[in-house]
Amino acid sequence: MPGRLARVYQSLEPDDFRVLRAVESGMGRYEYVPVEWVERRARLPPSRMLRSIRRLSDLKLIRRTLGAIVGYTLTFLGLDVLAVRALHAKGVIEELGDVIGAGKESDVYVAVTPTGERVAVKFHKEGRAPFHRIRRTRSFAAGESRRSMLLWAKMLGEREFRVLVELHGLGASVPEPVAWNRHAVVERLLEGAVELYRLPPLTRGEAVEVLGSVLRTVRIAYLEAGVVHGDLSEYNVLVAPGDSGGVRGVVIDWPQYVYRDEPHARELLERDVSRILRFFRSKYRVEAPLEDAMAYVTGESGEPPLPA
Ligand SMILES: Nc1ncnc2c1ncn2[C@@H]1O[C@H](COP(=O)(O)OP(=O)(O)O)[C@@H](O)[C@H]1O
Ligand SMILES: [Mg+2]
Repeated sequence: MPGRLARVYQSLEPDDFRVLRAVESGMGRYEYVPVEWVERRARLPPSRMLRSIRRLSDLKLIRRTLGAIVGYTLTFLGLDVLAVRALHAKGVIEELGDVIGAGKESDVYVAVTPTGERVAVKFHKEGRAPFHRIRRTRSFAAGESRRSMLLWAKMLGEREFRVLVELHGLGASVPEPVAWNRHAVVERLLEGAVELYRLPPLTRGEAVEVLGSVLRTVRIAYLEAGVVHGDLSEYNVLVAPGDSGGVRGVVIDWPQYVYRDEPHARELLERDVSRILRFFRSKYRVEAPLEDAMAYVTGESGEPPLPA
């Protein structure tokens, strides 16, 4: 799938980035940033500014108020473009490629670094509440303003990046974080990885290996980082080639994690673990008792509950 984001990005001119940044700079303060603010911050002659505003509106990177006061807000595509620009300027990515995963909650693109390595760039989108208690109240996503959704997405980017740094440093089987900017998280691309829900053909021994690395990761997260993933399932496990042959399961998609001492952490941990055990039982005929798996991930026992 060709990336629309890459095409839009390449069509922009330096003035456009100035205007986008000017709009962004007012969004901490205004729901719709007054055009005077944009003018002041962008510091462009009026004709160039108007041309740029028209282009950005046509490309749907900014949106104009329908009210009496002329103001603009950044769209998620506008925010994507600013993140790409910053990651490019910092030498993190050289070129943005195709979409490799698009969900309700993020768009993931492949990109190439200046040294030719391939990375995954995950752009958080609207609509995800990372904390259990917020998800419960439901007041979130429904009536929120665009402005707060953009701020929220930025917060998720930082949150996911930081937890990945910690987990990866602890030796958990998670993607290696590379950088983050705004709502975008850059990770090393897992080459040849397949989502677990697609049922990659695994021998029984390989299935045991994959489950083993997932449970080990859940244990490290809980015991050493003090966090619970909270959305673990076959959709958030990639099956990737192991470092020294074989296969491993890589646990992705962490922004909704909760801390171990939050009220529902234990419940969420049990839900995570039982979901993944159920999947392995029904699809790969690998049996592991929930009780033993819980004892393992919470550190009551040191033995992974896996069949030989
Ligand atoms: N590091 C990575 N390497 C390869 N593919 C990835 C990587 N990170 C994410 N993906 C792809 O992007 C998809 C969505 O990623 P995920 O973090 O689960 O976001 P979402 O919030 O949309 O579920 C994954 O199912 C996978 O196909
Ligand atoms: Mg996911």
